[in-house]
Amino acid sequence: MSRIYLNNDWEYCQAFLTDLVKLDFAGDCEKVRLPHTFEVTPFNAFSTDLYQKDAIYRKSFKTEPEWEGKRVLLTIEGAAHRSEVYLNEKLLATHDCGYTAFTVDLTSQLAPIGQKNLLAVRVDSHEDLNQPPFGFVIDYMTYGGIYRDVYLDVKNPVYIEDVFVKTKGKEYQAEVKIAGCPENEAKNYKITHTLKSAVSAKFTSDPKSEIKLWSPEEPYLYLLETELFDEAGKLLDSRETRFGFRDIRYDESGFYLNGKKIKIRGLNRHQSWPYVGYAMPKNMQIEDADILKYELGLNEVRTSHYPQSQYFIDRCDEIGLLVFTEIPGWQHIGNAEWKDKAVKNVRDMVLQYRNHPSIFIWGVRINESQDDDEFYERTNKLAHELDSTRPTGGVRYLKKSHLLEDVYTFNDFSFWGPNEGCLPKAKVTDTRKGYMITEYNGHMFPTKTFDCESHRTEHAIRHAKVLDAVAGHDEISGSSGWCAFDYNTHKDFGSGDYICYHGVMDMFRNPKMAAYVYQSQEEAELSGDVLYVTSSMDIGEYPASMRGDVYIITNADSVKMYVNDIFIKEYTASDSPFKNLKHGPIVIDDYVGHRLVDEDGIREKDLKPMKDMLFALQKYGVDNLPLGIVLKGLCLWARGVTNPNKLRDLYGKYIGNWGGKAVVYKFEAFRGGKLVKTVVRTPAKSTTLKIEARRRNLVEESSYDVASVSLKAIDENGNLQPYCQEAVFLRCEGEIELIGPKLVSLKGGMAGTYVRSKGKGGKGRLYITDWQNNEHWLEFTVSCEN
Ligand code: GAL
Repeated sequence: MSRIYLNNDWEYCQAFLTDLVKLDFAGDCEKVRLPHTFEVTPFNAFSTDLYQKDAIYRKSFKTEPEWEGKRVLLTIEGAAHRSEVYLNEKLLATHDCGYTAFTVDLTSQLAPIGQKNLLAVRVDSHEDLNQPPFGFVIDYMTYGGIYRDVYLDVKNPVYIEDVFVKTKGKEYQAEVKIAGCPENEAKNYKITHTLKSAVSAKFTSDPKSEIKLWSPEEPYLYLLETELFDEAGKLLDSRETRFGFRDIRYDESGFYLNGKKIKIRGLNRHQSWPYVGYAMPKNMQIEDADILKYELGLNEVRTSHYPQSQYFIDRCDEIGLLVFTEIPGWQHIGNAEWKDKAVKNVRDMVLQYRNHPSIFIWGVRINESQDDDEFYERTNKLAHELDSTRPTGGVRYLKKSHLLEDVYTFNDFSFWGPNEGCLPKAKVTDTRKGYMITEYNGHMFPTKTFDCESHRTEHAIRHAKVLDAVAGHDEISGSSGWCAFDYNTHKDFGSGDYICYHGVMDMFRNPKMAAYVYQSQEEAELSGDVLYVTSSMDIGEYPASMRGDVYIITNADSVKMYVNDIFIKEYTASDSPFKNLKHGPIVIDDYVGHRLVDEDGIREKDLKPMKDMLFALQKYGVDNLPLGIVLKGLCLWARGVTNPNKLRDLYGKYIGNWGGKAVVYKFEAFRGGKLVKTVVRTPAKSTTLKIEARRRNLVEESSYDVASVSLKAIDENGNLQPYCQEAVFLRCEGEIELIGPKLVSLKGGMAGTYVRSKGKGGKGRLYITDWQNNEHWLEFTVSCEN
């Protein structure tokens, strides 16, 4: 009936001692709020030993008079990784998973009414625990701490433990589990259901007039209010379950939602951030889901490699982002005890997440593990028993491995640049069941925001190539690329600084070029108008000044290119080499337009070969021209159209741009005949700091709130200056405080920071002093809802 959040006023002690579970412990502990991380870490280059601790959290609360005769249930939504829960010095429960919630009945051990209880939670984050995902190497940091919400639910002795709303078309069926009475007595209680619209959701409709189906485009949500009455008609408990009406079908021909075939276009997400690891509150979880949907234009996310925050998945329900979730694990399968824990994780995952309409598949294998039929028969059987509405998958890198699941889900890392973007299904599996690619790219092409332009471009284009290839294979239901955001990892992986630079965004969720490839796949109504040009146009960035291919990434109808305000060419999607994508990146193949005729006396019939010559010169350089181009040049020379000296001048004028006025490249994107976006590329005259916060109103609800701030060095045309690595100094005043260091250097022209509310309402300012000693500030408001 009533929920009491216990996120505030905890005492945290870094090392466990038995004395710490005692009521009369008198030592000093740190005061903390949840979500909490064992250790605030540096951005990179730190050891995973930092966060491996056997620590303890202590919290006092009084037994309230209204708890008389009730059950008091404690839920910990996430504590990494092994927890022991003590109440008033007695060990009541243990939980061996850092990624699922668990509930402990405190009733029997509560102090008398009005008296103080001591709740102590011992949390062990050592990576040698005999439980998933531990046992061998893991390509992500696993952090430590109670990093999600903790709350009490106060219930009547007989109460509703669980409601599962199953849907088929516009029909639903609710399975209710009653706790606190023997199973054979459950029939004495009456259960009623009332279907309501979910008022807080974006898409709602009154169920009395019409049921609307949940889909990525229109994620309609409903509430089922379930009430439990005793024989005398007294209300004992009620619960609201949010769900959506939708049907899932997965077969050989693809993935169908409500009978409509959907091509999955997703990325993998780790739930980590710089400095605080896993410990980010509700609004930051929501923000990540929004980034994936609106800034990356995705229709799916895989919660690699564990179940993630309910806030995150709730948001996926609300905005229509499909979710592939899976049990914790990474390649390694442990002993019998370890496997039992993994099977329990399947149970917890399915029971805790099965009302989310966004979840379309259960990952019931340890990511990239070997076949183990006996083990995986258990995980599949259990998932099917607990949820008959969703298929199972299990992510493997093995081709032709044993398929006990409903869908063959495969990490296809076959693409390495010059080859096809993905394997056809038949090369991976003979199954007649459905097929999905669950990872690609990642370690095949790590890319930092501060890599050279050609590398960053190649990264973006590799993502486009795989998307294009997947789009061209009807038998592949879609793909989830590796990955959304860079992440801290173990010594065995990453770039030697404990970061895997595999994201299409950096750890602060700043976009790399590849992010625009994803964003541009979605229409402007959803992800905004996208226009991005992959080069600063400075040939000096390239070895021997050979710029190679420059791409226009856009979701517009057409893009007009101008040089010094002279029209050169209008490009449309049909110019893209990525024929299976609606908005494939377009290669710029003309820097000259009609200018050779208009300005240099070249005849119309010679324009094309002359342009080809100049284009080849900028792409390959003088010494590496393809034979065809050399012959073309000799022919033009023989006919007196040009000669080496003249060509050199034209190269200087159109490609080298040496001397004189700086060249201005302008790109204009049009949609529905209207100019919607302009990009101007010309050498920068100045660099300034652009500061953006995705949110500036923080809400103290069940705990503190956090807002992310992005910092970018831009030129006067708004272009990122990727090689500006200057530092900024950060300081907070008022009702907010900084997370992480005060001094932050830009990396690839970008950085970020986080501010956190301090428990009081009011205003707070983040002051940022840039490298030119300019002071900027952003104002935040903090409102208190508790
Ligand atoms: C996969 C693995 C991911 C990540 C990725 C890097 O093999 O499943 O967790 O390590 O490689 O590309």
